[in-house]
Amino acid sequence: MRITECRVNHVTEPMGYSTDRVSFSWKTEDARGHRQAGAKIRVWEKDEPEKVVYDGEWGMLNSLSEVVPLSLRPRTAYSWTVSVRSDAGEEAVSGENRLETGKKDEPWTGRWISCDPGEPRLPVFCRRFSLERPDVRKARLYVSGLGVYEAHLNSHRIGDERLTPYCNNYTAWVQYQTWDVTPWLEGENLLEIALGNGWYNGRYGFTTRPGGGGFYGDRWKLIAELHVTYTDGSEQVIASDRSWTVRRSRITFSSIYDGEHRDDTLPEVPETQAEETGETLPLRERLSLPVRVQEERPAAELLHTPKDEWVYDLGQNLTGTFRLRVHEPRGTRIHVQVGEVLQDGCFYRENLRSAKAEYWYVSDGKEHVLEPKFTFYGYRYAKVEGITAPAKEDFTALVLYSDVMEAGRLTTGHGKINQLISNIRWGQKGNFLDVPTDCPQRDERMGWTADTQVFVPTACFFTDSAAFYRKFLFDLRTEQKQFHGMVPDVVPSVGHAGQGSSVWGDAGTIIPWMLYVFYGDKGILEESLESMEAWVDYIRREDGDHRGWGQHFHYGDWVALDHPTGLKDEVRGGTEDAFIAYVYYMYSARLTARAARVLGRSAEAEKYDGIADEVLGYIRDEYFTPNGRCAITTQTGYVLTLYYHLTGQREKALRSLKSLIRAKGNKFVTGFVGTPLIQRVLSAEGEDVLAYHILFNEEYPGWLYEVNLGATTIWERWNSMEADGRVSSTGMNSFNHYAYGSVGEWMWRTMAGLNPDPDAPGFRRVILRPVPHGKLGSLQADYDSPAGRYHVDWQVEGDRKVTLHVTVPFDCEAVLRLPWARDWEEKTLESGSYTFELEARDSLRPTYSIKDTVGDLLEDLRARKTLLRYLRVNHLPEHQRTRTAEDMWEEAGLRRKPKEDLVQLNAELMQIEK
Ligand code: BGC
Repeated sequence: MRITECRVNHVTEPMGYSTDRVSFSWKTEDARGHRQAGAKIRVWEKDEPEKVVYDGEWGMLNSLSEVVPLSLRPRTAYSWTVSVRSDAGEEAVSGENRLETGKKDEPWTGRWISCDPGEPRLPVFCRRFSLERPDVRKARLYVSGLGVYEAHLNSHRIGDERLTPYCNNYTAWVQYQTWDVTPWLEGENLLEIALGNGWYNGRYGFTTRPGGGGFYGDRWKLIAELHVTYTDGSEQVIASDRSWTVRRSRITFSSIYDGEHRDDTLPEVPETQAEETGETLPLRERLSLPVRVQEERPAAELLHTPKDEWVYDLGQNLTGTFRLRVHEPRGTRIHVQVGEVLQDGCFYRENLRSAKAEYWYVSDGKEHVLEPKFTFYGYRYAKVEGITAPAKEDFTALVLYSDVMEAGRLTTGHGKINQLISNIRWGQKGNFLDVPTDCPQRDERMGWTADTQVFVPTACFFTDSAAFYRKFLFDLRTEQKQFHGMVPDVVPSVGHAGQGSSVWGDAGTIIPWMLYVFYGDKGILEESLESMEAWVDYIRREDGDHRGWGQHFHYGDWVALDHPTGLKDEVRGGTEDAFIAYVYYMYSARLTARAARVLGRSAEAEKYDGIADEVLGYIRDEYFTPNGRCAITTQTGYVLTLYYHLTGQREKALRSLKSLIRAKGNKFVTGFVGTPLIQRVLSAEGEDVLAYHILFNEEYPGWLYEVNLGATTIWERWNSMEADGRVSSTGMNSFNHYAYGSVGEWMWRTMAGLNPDPDAPGFRRVILRPVPHGKLGSLQADYDSPAGRYHVDWQVEGDRKVTLHVTVPFDCEAVLRLPWARDWEEKTLESGSYTFELEARDSLRPTYSIKDTVGDLLEDLRARKTLLRYLRVNHLPEHQRTRTAEDMWEEAGLRRKPKEDLVQLNAELMQIEK
């Protein structure tokens, strides 16, 4: 038995991360036993092992993630181990793991320093110092710089993170990082910290304008403390103050949206003295995960376009910067611009709106490898100007995203579905740069709360996202405090809070709950319960006694395709906003009650359940007839009716939903609200065939329509690009918008079958319900859940045979449900590996046939056309529509028709996939 993947607050060996609360997690592998019989944690000061700060006892812990009350000292390294016992009597101790605190509540001796903002060249703050003695035990740099900083000690880059200290509402909190700089110290030292504008001091959000200052700040600012500890424990501290000097770099401009300018012909200018700003900003230990260059991608092609442009094609829409080798005569101006798609084979970037997303460089005549430092781009194509003979090898994309570890790998036997999975993954990579963003390329790149909310489960299936979202939730709560419980539309809000919209603000309840279900960390609920309550209380106040919530502005089923105007750049959906708003009000109240119950707060649980019940009553009175018919007759309306159990008449609702889908040729017209749920609802009702059909659809609107048009990420709109390859509109049209990638959740839950059970969160129990499909052929899924690795693979042979392999990790169980399999009884699997040879009840390559009801055949546009060529049955009374086509053939008195026609009809119907 081995203990692996030991983490603190979901981070491996954190240094200088927030320790306001500490949760430990681990995995157990290679055990003979099936269950964890006990676990205990021991924590001690690394340099003084006798100082044990926590020594748990057997039996106290019995989960895979535990919040432990610890009182930790500032700037101190701790070691910890976890011991685990299994139900087979095995015992294992983990290796020694590290955890090091930042400054915690310790006051800063460093001062915030700044320099003349009138000089456009970006500053580099410098401090020269000598070591007092040679016997250094360790050295740590605690530092934050606004907007963004990059630090060097004696020309060594400190760390490999980009765009530190990351993106927050800086008025409420500013993160600082802790770096181990011991290896680079010398007798005489030069510490240099370069600053760029970033999200703080540059254009970011809707309230800043091109050329204008930042929303949060208007000056570069730096604070730093370098602590050198000698072997006897004594310390030398080098802290930021007015003794630091400022030199000017050759970067003359930096902006998140507009890119960067560098001029290597500029002369050195004399260093000036730093100024102390006299401020105290709200510094806190970091929560943000590192953003690094996670992948390097050489250009796939260098295109010479009909407009005589040189354009690098990366072959993948991505987020990051680049490396470009140049060697041009002194004074040459080189210009790089980026875009996501080509038009008529030429460079295109109209959909980036006002974001210039460019790089300017003035050459000093020498060879250089250019690399923007303080910006990022969302792009697939890069146009270069000013280079005499561009070469393909000269350009490499540097892909930036937060350090979330891959957790799930999903592959199928269907090439286009695999491309879709890749598009979802790249959508996540591209929008996981510290903030979960809507899109990474245009003048937005903001933490829109609905986009985040709908994508959370998909992100948690593909990566270990707990720490990433924990930081987002901290930001969300911080904002809420300023807005009296309201969750803004965007987090950090950057001046765009809004008035609170349903689905967007409900991120405040849905995300913590989802994280709890996925990671089983009650601490996340502890941290969020008050905020969940505050959001529901906010809605309640707005609702008042006049149903005010329904009269609020809400984004509704954003970018759905069923708005009555039918305009191609319409952003509103056809489902009533107030209906959606009350459904999510109810859901938020319900989740708050569930969270309170998990935390043992029964009074709160009752209160919020009471609110949920009251709102549900109102929804039923307002929107449902006494017999259960819903007044909102859109696909999304019925999706919500079924998903949130709004009516007891489920069959009726399902029939309505199916006929609305069929009326659109087996396609959906749903937006941000309906799309993430439509297939989940169908699968929950046993309509996997239709759910799969929606997935496989290659026509507009659908995911494979995008794949067929060459998409390498997920688009913002179903019609972002028309079938002829034209960009449909430029007002709001991104080619890297992960929200519709939320179909990933259905893929994991249905194709792979992994459904975490909220009653045994963290995947301690899953409802395993894989649904094979002949068109997919096979599937392999590995999921590194917080409890360990689940494996599911299946292979379809012929029409009905399926081989299924399943692995369940230690201390977990899987309830295997295979309603599609013949002679199958539900069973519970304990940890271990299993193989099943199965036979499906129905064909796994489902097509229509004369055995289908006339009603079903008439609803599907393709089947309808075929049927009507043989049988005139379009004006049938309702009760006749439930007859099969075969029976109708008999009953319609058409016996005189040749039998061969019936055989022919059947053959034609069997060509049409369900
Ligand atoms: C964003 C969306 C966002 C929406 C809110 C857009 O500009 O890109 O994804 O949720 O605004 O309405």
